[in-house]
Amino acid sequence: MFENIIVEKDGPIGVIRLNRPRVLNALNRQLMKEVSIALDDMEKDEGIKVVILTGNEKAFAAGADVSEFKDPKGPDMLFNYRFFEWERVATFLKPLVASVAGYALGGGFELAMMCDMIVAADNAVFGQPEIKLGIIPGAGGTQRLTRLIEKHRAMEYILTGKFMDVWKAYRMGVVNRVVPVENYLEETKRFVKDLISGPPIALAVAKDTVNKAYELNLREGLDYERKMFYFLFSTQDKDEGISAFLEKRRPDFKGR
Ligand code: COA
Repeated sequence: MFENIIVEKDGPIGVIRLNRPRVLNALNRQLMKEVSIALDDMEKDEGIKVVILTGNEKAFAAGADVSEFKDPKGPDMLFNYRFFEWERVATFLKPLVASVAGYALGGGFELAMMCDMIVAADNAVFGQPEIKLGIIPGAGGTQRLTRLIEKHRAMEYILTGKFMDVWKAYRMGVVNRVVPVENYLEETKRFVKDLISGPPIALAVAKDTVNKAYELNLREGLDYERKMFYFLFSTQDKDEGISAFLEKRRPDFKGR
């Protein structure tokens, strides 16, 4: 069904593997459509609790497919390259973790930053090299990277296109864990294990509310958080979580 990605399920963990190895997983539009469809499926599948987005050992993704940028002019891009499939990644409801080995450049870095967390192999390299092509990031890089590592450091990477090695990325808070490249996907699965038995509705609300911290001012964000907090008191999972604590047993969350 898919030509540019491989979709696997390992019990409650969904894995979407970007699969254009010949071009270092350059993100063409067909690939992004497939990612968007796979995410739709996994969002609806109650058996899937968490999703990992990954590539291969050499590249998570070396950016948007530059060959698609050769001919179009501004108006062509405006009307035909709307990034809807990319935004789909940022609006996915379940926990979504990027498992990055090798290059995560340009759109590849932007895609990883759209995920909730990043586990990186010790050979991972990040960067926004678009400036070297005479353009700038177009899928959120100028905004998300600036919020992640602050203005002056983001300027350095976006204005020069230089690469960021994995330990620098770790020190700056871009990645959550650095793991050996030999078993980076297994390590990522271990990393997401804690999320599997979590309350699905509260997890969806939690990630949405954290993401709101990017968009709202503090007062609006606090108001939003409080409303979401009250909302969760209407779920069966809240009754189960509180009862389980008081009864000194493990909760059995149903996502209701
Ligand atoms: N779009 C399209 N094709 C790409 C690509 C991209 N973003 N990144 C790599 N490729 C292709 C190369 O053209 C090459 O294809 P070929 O074998 O038909 O010539 C193949 O992938 C392997 O890449 P190559 O450059 O030979 O590998 P390398 O190990 O020497 O260098 C990079 C790796 C990542 C440093 C280099 O490929 C690169 O700079 N890529 C572009 C990064 C970029 O500018 N991304 C932002 C795009 S907006």
